[in-house]
Amino acid sequence: MAKRIEDLKVIGNKRLNDDFFILELLGNTKIPDFKPGQFAQVKVEGSPDTFLRRPISIHDVDYENNTIKLLIQITGKGTKALSGLGNGDSLNLIYPLGNSFSLPAADEKVLLVGGGCGIAPLLFLGNYLKSNGCIPDVLLGFRNGARIIEFEEYLKIGKVFVTTEDGSMGEKGYVTGHSIFAENHYTRICCCGPETMMRALATYSKNKNIVCEVSLENLMACGIGACLCCVVDTIKGNLCTCIDGPIFNVNDLKW
Ligand SMILES: Cc1cc2nc3c(=O)[nH]c(=O)nc-3n(C[C@H](O)[C@H](O)[C@H](O)COP(=O)(O)OP(=O)(O)OC[C@H]3O[C@@H](n4cnc5c(N)ncnc54)[C@H](O)[C@@H]3O)c2cc1C
Ligand code: FES
Repeated sequence: MAKRIEDLKVIGNKRLNDDFFILELLGNTKIPDFKPGQFAQVKVEGSPDTFLRRPISIHDVDYENNTIKLLIQITGKGTKALSGLGNGDSLNLIYPLGNSFSLPAADEKVLLVGGGCGIAPLLFLGNYLKSNGCIPDVLLGFRNGARIIEFEEYLKIGKVFVTTEDGSMGEKGYVTGHSIFAENHYTRICCCGPETMMRALATYSKNKNIVCEVSLENLMACGIGACLCCVVDTIKGNLCTCIDGPIFNVNDLKW
């Protein structure tokens, strides 16, 4: 798919809590067909020491209204600057970048698992699967109930299960300990979140012979395979997370 460098217009900046916000962007030209799991390299204006673009997943797409949404966690200067964008501002993106989650077969039972800002690519993935006849279960992990975001949006996809570290909502603990794993036989897990979470799910999936794809959030600079700063060690050799990923089957990763 051809990559584009385009200015999009900010038509919404919704603050979800202290850390997270959603930017809604309107395409000046027809937005491209995205595949679930792809991301954009976002230019950060007005922050002189934030030279490199920041990789952000496509959170949601509305082709009818020609808009996309980015769900962003404020972690440093770049994302902080992005949080200050307002309606009418322009945001420059290079997109669509990266590979995508693979589509399950018709009879598969799919679980989407997200933690922290890793829940971002799973909304578009879930909607994409649903429109292709597969209704996945969704499992989201948060630190506590007050930090739960986008719950209603994921409910539109399928059943949503939650874990919180303090047990203030859903089951107490980490996603990997949730009772749905004992009660259901999933054939495929699609996951994005902290690496420790993805590694734990990788181990579980390998033991149970379940297909498991993870979206890696390695540090990136160029986003187009030129700088090699996002390399990941795989059974196929060193691969770039930005062009060969960010989605990898866990069997290919040397985890
Ligand atoms: C393919 C991909 C998709 C991503 N999608 C999203 C998304 O949808 N929403 C979202 O909020 N974030 C996403 N991220 C992470 C996001 O790119 C980083 O949080 C962002 O670049 C940090 O920029 P900053 O200037 O705010 O922070 P910086 O000042 O650059 O860094 C602040 C802190 O965040 C850490 N950090 C920086 N980049 C990353 C990273 N890639 N992963 C983990 N920690 C990092 C730094 O080590 C540092 O500790 C994605 C990353 C990748 C590679
Ligand atoms: S970010 Fe430069 S090669 Fe991947």
